[in-house]
Amino acid sequence: MASTALNSVQQNALAMGINLDSLPAHVAIIMDGNGRYAKSKGLMRLWGHREGYKTLKNVLLCAANLGIQYLTVYAFSAENWRRPEDEVGGLMKLIEEAARHELQGLVENNVQAQAIGRLHEVPQGLQNALAEMKESTKSNTGIKFTLAINYGGRAEIIDAVKALIADNPTEITEEELAKHLYDPSIPEPDLMIRTAGELRWSNFLIWQAAYSELFVTDVTWPEFGERQLLESVAHYQKRVRKFGGLADSQ
Ligand code: IPE
Ligand code: IPE
Ligand code: MG
Repeated sequence: MASTALNSVQQNALAMGINLDSLPAHVAIIMDGNGRYAKSKGLMRLWGHREGYKTLKNVLLCAANLGIQYLTVYAFSAENWRRPEDEVGGLMKLIEEAARHELQGLVENNVQAQAIGRLHEVPQGLQNALAEMKESTKSNTGIKFTLAINYGGRAEIIDAVKALIADNPTEITEEELAKHLYDPSIPEPDLMIRTAGELRWSNFLIWQAAYSELFVTDVTWPEFGERQLLESVAHYQKRVRKFGGLADSQ
């Protein structure tokens, strides 16, 4: 590739030693640490979530410019309802506002955007905004961006099992179950990033992430950006993926 044809994210990636021909196809992110970031500034948790929204907008563009094909982010877990009512309500409003406000930009940037999770349980206004976002971007051909909202990995497996049983399968196999996940067209994540340092899954994509490479950074989500995204990809490219087998060198 001639360097003149590369955008600035790709040029920065090359400068960090990243091979643009072996990028992870699917990157998934547990966007954690908004509350801690706000606390560190002496501000309200919801302010931290708002900062997190700005980060997401930036990271989506960086991922698209880099050449990532699928980006899936954890925006609200099935367990996050346990938080105080004002935080939950504020998050629902913020996600709705973001879905409406960013729609034009998503269309212009050729992003296919959708949400997964038990969406029928979120407020009607948010359901409408998400349906409109999906509909208006469905014929785009760029990065596929998926927001996990009221999403739980166990809930997704239960929903898949119910859908599978309703199909009257002759056999129950991993392949058949995977066909009933919320979006079976998305490949399993190659790289799973978690911000803010916790070393756990918190019920995110637990079926699909069986062989994902993990990258955990202490940086909180509002502080995450192009540099950290590229760093995670550089780390990913140093990993030897074995899927239970042996590496070529073994
Ligand atoms: C992640 O940030 C965003 C959501 C879970 C919605 P947190 O709100 O969990 O931030 P911390 O973990 O309290 O710092
Ligand atoms: C995971 O973060 C959920 C999202 C990022 C939306 P949490 O902050 O809810 O996870 P725990 O509670 O630390 O496991
Ligand atoms: Mg958290």
